[in-house]
Amino acid sequence: MAVTYDSPRSTALPSALHPLEPLTAEEILAALAILRASQPLGDRVRFISITLHEPPKSLVLDFEPGTAFEREAFVIVLDNGTGNTYEAIVSITHQSVKSWRHIPDVQPPIALDEFFDCEATVKASPEFQAAVRKRGITDMDLVCVDPWSAGWYADDPQEDRGRRLSRALCWVRSNPTDNLYAHPIDGLIVIVDLNAMQVVRVEDHAVIPVPSEMSNYTTEYVKDLRSDLKPLEITQPQGASFQVQGHAIRWQKWQMRIGFTPREGLVLYQVGYEDQGRVRPIFYRASLVEMTVPYGDTNITQARKNAFDVGEYGVGTLANSLKLGCDCLGEIYYFDAVMANTRGEIFEIKNAICMHEEDYGILWKHTDWRTDQVEVRRSRRLVLSFIATVGNYEYGFFWYFYQDGTIQYEVKLTGMMTTAAVMPGEKPAYGTELTPQLYAPNHQHVFCVRMDMMIDGVNNSVYEVDTEAVPLGATNPYGNAFYAKSTLLATEQEAQRLIDPFKARYWKIVNPSVQNRMGYPVGYKLMPGENALPFAHPEASVMQRGGYMTKHLWVTPYDETERFPAGDYPNQHVGGAGLPQWTQANDSVENTDIVIWYTFNHTHIPRCEDWPVMPVSYIGFMLKPVNFFDLNPANDVPPAPPKSCCH
Ligand code: NI
Repeated sequence: MAVTYDSPRSTALPSALHPLEPLTAEEILAALAILRASQPLGDRVRFISITLHEPPKSLVLDFEPGTAFEREAFVIVLDNGTGNTYEAIVSITHQSVKSWRHIPDVQPPIALDEFFDCEATVKASPEFQAAVRKRGITDMDLVCVDPWSAGWYADDPQEDRGRRLSRALCWVRSNPTDNLYAHPIDGLIVIVDLNAMQVVRVEDHAVIPVPSEMSNYTTEYVKDLRSDLKPLEITQPQGASFQVQGHAIRWQKWQMRIGFTPREGLVLYQVGYEDQGRVRPIFYRASLVEMTVPYGDTNITQARKNAFDVGEYGVGTLANSLKLGCDCLGEIYYFDAVMANTRGEIFEIKNAICMHEEDYGILWKHTDWRTDQVEVRRSRRLVLSFIATVGNYEYGFFWYFYQDGTIQYEVKLTGMMTTAAVMPGEKPAYGTELTPQLYAPNHQHVFCVRMDMMIDGVNNSVYEVDTEAVPLGATNPYGNAFYAKSTLLATEQEAQRLIDPFKARYWKIVNPSVQNRMGYPVGYKLMPGENALPFAHPEASVMQRGGYMTKHLWVTPYDETERFPAGDYPNQHVGGAGLPQWTQANDSVENTDIVIWYTFNHTHIPRCEDWPVMPVSYIGFMLKPVNFFDLNPANDVPPAPPKSCCH
């Protein structure tokens, strides 16, 4: 559906049910019309993003259904003519622009429209055409250009400074359906000015023969499909167990709202669990807020590759429409994502968010071996997910909610590794050769999830919990004793922490003012999974720009302006923004409204088995209640009907 900003619209918009409901198509168009009426925007502006300007937390927490509230849009505007970036807050309710700010010296994310424009611009360049002809490529229709972000480097040529750039990399297909990533045009980099939409220069570093072996994974190429898979069907004859109203969800004892932004994709709001007749809050807001992929290869086309996929592109705009191919089994409920393209036309991703229930094995079990009484319960989880295609890679972002109060976040990494080429007879120094002369460079995927915690109320504290052995001696005569040592992380700098699996380290977020039945402060523990630190040198550009990657845990006092750990505008940013900057003040994070930032790092040394398409790799973390409840909250899950497990 494409609706232009000046299409007929009613002046009275249907009112949203809740202040956190995402903007509707009508509201987006109304906001843009109000902005255009108030500002002389000209015809060279791009609307980089239009999202709900979230109301103050206090307003949301005090919200009573049925009461009136104001609807506002937050708009990022890029003027391609001047290169200036603006932020606007538009009151849709009052049909006015509440603020209009020029944000100097920033580059907003590269928008999806710019991908297509950039590719067309490069392919039309005579200098580029000459460079690919030098490599024996004559059919420009088969050439593909990926608009990699340019980053910021001290030795960038002076002509690049202040420009909105892409450092585009190129591939070529053997035929229109061939996998382009099998054929990198290595040694060739095209610097594109995205404001002027012009090639700044073609950097032809070396003519490296394009690897010729085809690597295809689609059914038209894989002829010998295995034939011994019997049907496995998930049926829910009475439907799913969740209820949905707008973007509010109830499932089992869980309640939450969801949203979707171009930058973050799926956002969770006001997640709570019903316990003894009341809904107990856990999160106010949670989302993936950055993701950086540093490459560890000195090859000239690879050495400046560092993608900040959230801040430089936006994983929401790159979300898949699951209408086109279902990724889940069972009774699925889909939410659409409504956004706008940079021309202010509605850009709707049908079925962007998938929600369904999954059987998850055993929830709990005990056999009383004296009486032969067996009690077992099946575990079920609610799954909320979306999948983004960022150029060559797919990322699935999954939240899981379990009946026992556990929350899990998982990223599924799949798709296509980015590739490079070596000269015949050479071996890649910092990557794995996949087919003759084709290799995938070593890299890491660093994710950061921001969780605005609200454990039984807004004021929370964080403890680091290490398990420690008691020294052998009078208090531990058999040398067997160990205990959980909790250390309060009282300030922002004290709360910059790393994992320590040898101490079974976890972090516990508690509400010090609320105790459970046995007198423990109620809490949730953040349990790290796979993790690592970056291997880039501290002075490397990506480390300056992604300082958040140097710590696994950060805790900050809530500030509605602190949303993205590498800053609001990481694209081409010199570095230092975001968490490293904010936490210099070393504010207290004790018994106050806090935000937890967890960074987790998947190190990818490519395998031949990751080619031609990568089997899913998983990484994430868990949040488990720790003395939040008085007892196992899932003791009341009924047994499954006998026919569901026996034949
Ligand atoms: Ni990878």
